[in-house]
Amino acid sequence: MAFPRLILAEPLVQDAAPRGAGACGRQVSTTLAALLISFGLIMVLGGGWQPVENQEPIINMASYVQPHTGLSTRFRTPLPPIASNRFRQQIKAQAASLHDDDRFRQQIKAQALAPSLREDTGLEQIQHEIMGKAAPSALNPAAKYRLAQYDDTWHIVHPEDSVPAQAVFSDAFVAPSVSEYATGSNEEEKSGAGVMAWVSHSKISFDYRVVEVPHGNLLDPKCDALLFGHLSPGTPERQEAEATAQRRLVVIDKTVNDLYGDKVKAYFEARGIEHEILVLTMTEDNKSMELVLKVAERMKKFNIDRRKEPVLAIGGGVSLDIVGLAASLFRRRTPYIRVPTTALSYIDASVGAKNGVNFAGSKNRLGSYVPPAAALLDSSFFATQPHRDVANGVAEMAKMAIMKSPELYELLEQHGARLVAEKFAPRSPYDHVPQRVLQLSIQTMLEELSPNLWENSLDRLVDFGHAVGQDLEMAALGGEHELQHGESVAVDMSFMTVLSQQLGLISEAQRDRTLNMLRGCKLPVWSPVMDYELFTHAVSERVRNSMGQRFPLPVGIGEARIFNDISEADLSRAFHFWEELCAPMGGAQPPLKKIA
Ligand SMILES: NC(=O)c1ccc[n+]([C@@H]2O[C@H](COP(=O)([O-])OP(=O)(O)OC[C@H]3O[C@@H](n4cnc5c(N)ncnc54)[C@H](O)[C@@H]3O)[C@@H](O)[C@H]2O)c1
Ligand SMILES: [Zn+2]
Repeated sequence: MAFPRLILAEPLVQDAAPRGAGACGRQVSTTLAALLISFGLIMVLGGGWQPVENQEPIINMASYVQPHTGLSTRFRTPLPPIASNRFRQQIKAQAASLHDDDRFRQQIKAQALAPSLREDTGLEQIQHEIMGKAAPSALNPAAKYRLAQYDDTWHIVHPEDSVPAQAVFSDAFVAPSVSEYATGSNEEEKSGAGVMAWVSHSKISFDYRVVEVPHGNLLDPKCDALLFGHLSPGTPERQEAEATAQRRLVVIDKTVNDLYGDKVKAYFEARGIEHEILVLTMTEDNKSMELVLKVAERMKKFNIDRRKEPVLAIGGGVSLDIVGLAASLFRRRTPYIRVPTTALSYIDASVGAKNGVNFAGSKNRLGSYVPPAAALLDSSFFATQPHRDVANGVAEMAKMAIMKSPELYELLEQHGARLVAEKFAPRSPYDHVPQRVLQLSIQTMLEELSPNLWENSLDRLVDFGHAVGQDLEMAALGGEHELQHGESVAVDMSFMTVLSQQLGLISEAQRDRTLNMLRGCKLPVWSPVMDYELFTHAVSERVRNSMGQRFPLPVGIGEARIFNDISEADLSRAFHFWEELCAPMGGAQPPLKKIA
C-alpha cells in the first residue's frame, strides 16, 4: 500500500525547509516553501527521505504513519549540534546498509498501525496536549520520537532512521521541539541554536498482587503467603526467594498486636525467619508524618534490603496507609505488603495504590500513589472486630454492588445481615457466600481502580457514597451522632438512591430494595447531621473539587451512570423527599451506636 506523505514545517526552521524538501527527492524553492509554511500549509510529497549530509542548519526529518489515517507524516525538529553530529554519523552508517533501513521502515509502519499503539491513549493524550499548546503550524507528532537501545546506549530514533537489528525499543519517548520561548530571530535561525523544549514520556507500570488465603490460614506457619505471596508462583523471583534465607520487618497496629501478636511472632519463629516487629498505636488521630518517620527510622535500623525484604504492614486502613507512605518514601520506593485486618481495609485500602496521612487538619493530605507489592487477605481477622466496624466495611461492598454488580447486590440483599452478625465466618466448608461477597467486592473495585490508578479521571463510580458523604463524616465527627466512614457513605448512598428514583432512573421498588439492603447490613440510611444546609454546602464542595457534579447514580440494580446536570430544584425536592422517607426509620436514634 502506498502512503501519501505530508511535510509539516515549523516557522523556526523555514529556511531549512527547502533543503529538507530536497532531501525528500524534490526541490522546492525557498520562497514557495516559506509561503506554504507561513500559511501553515502542509505539503504533500512522495518518496522516502534520502539523507543529505552537507547541509546546514542541522535538521532532523522523520516520517511516521498516523495510526488513525494511515497517512505518513513528515515533520522536523532542530537538534543541538552535538547530538546532530552524532545523528549525521548514524545516517552515514545507515546509508551503507539500506536494506536495514527498509526493514526498519516496515517495522515502524507495522507498529504505527498496530492496535496496541492506536489504543494507546497515553500517547494520544500527550500528542493532543502538545498540539493544543503549540501553534497550529507546529503540529507535532511527538509520540513518534522513539527510544532505541543499541551499543548499550539509548538513542532518539525517527521512523526512517535505521537501527541495528538487535536494537531494543522502549515505550518511552523523548520528543524534542523548538521551545515556545524561542525568539525566532534571524541569528537564532541561522545558527540553529535556538532554545528547545523536550517532552519526556515514560510509562510507569505497576504490578501488584491481591491474594486471598483460606479463612484463618495466613498466620498458620504451614502457609507461606506471608513470605512469598507477593511473588507470582512459578516465577524465577519466587523460586529464588524460596531458596534464600528471608528477613522481615513487621509493622503492626497495637490493637492488632494485642490480639494476634503472639501468632505473628510464632509464625516467623516456626519458619526460622529473622524478623523484627514494630508495634505502634496507629489511629485516625495520630495518622501523621510523625508515625511515618518512626517506621522509616526502623527500616533504616533494620537495614532493609529493598530488593528482597518487603516491609509487612498488619492492621486496619490507618496502619496500611502509614506504612505504605513510609515505604514509598524510604529510598524513594521500598516494597511493602498489606495485611488488612478490618473489613473496610480488606476490600478498600488493600486493593488500591494510595497511601497517606493526615496533615494540617486535612485528611490524607500527604500521600502517594505507590501500590504495595501485594495485599494478602484473610477474612478471619474480622472475628475480633466490633459488629459496627464490620458493617462499616460492608458499606463499601454495598457501594460496588449498587454501582455495578447485580450478583453482589443480591448476595448482600439476602445475606448482609448474617454476614455482619457472623463477621464473614463461613457456616460450613460449603458456605461460599462470605468469600464470594468479598471476592466480588475486590474484583469490581480493581476493575474500576486499575485503569485509573492515579485517579486522573474524575468520573469514578467508586465515588458513589462519597459525594456528600465525606462532608457528613467530618460534620458528625466528635458529636453525638458521629458516623464511621462507611456509615456516612451509606447515608450518602441512600440519598442518591432516592434522588435516582425521583429522577426516574430507577423504580420505587428498586429504590426500596436498596434502602432495605442497606438497613439489612446494619447501615444507617439517614443522619440527623445531614440537614439541608450541610447538604447544599457538600454539593457545592463536590462540584468545586470534582469540576462538576459527576454524581454516580444507580440506573438499575447493579448498574450506574455518571450525571452532571441535576438541577437545584431536583436536588432540593429529592432531599426533602429523602428525609420524609428515611428519617423515621434510619436516623431518629443515634445510628447503630449500640450494636457492637
Ligand atoms: N489507601 C486507601 O486506598 C484507603 C481506602 C479506604 C480507607 N483508607 C483509610 O483507612 C482508614 C480506615 O480504615 P479502618 O476502618 O480499617 O480503620 P483503622 O485502621 O483505624 O481500624 C479501626 C479500628 O479497628 C482496630 N482493629 C484493626 N483490626 C482489628 C481486628 N482485626 N480486630 C479488632 N480491632 C481491629 C484498629 O486498631 C482501630 O482501632 C482511614 O484512615 C482511611 O483514610 C485508605
Ligand atoms: Zn470510602
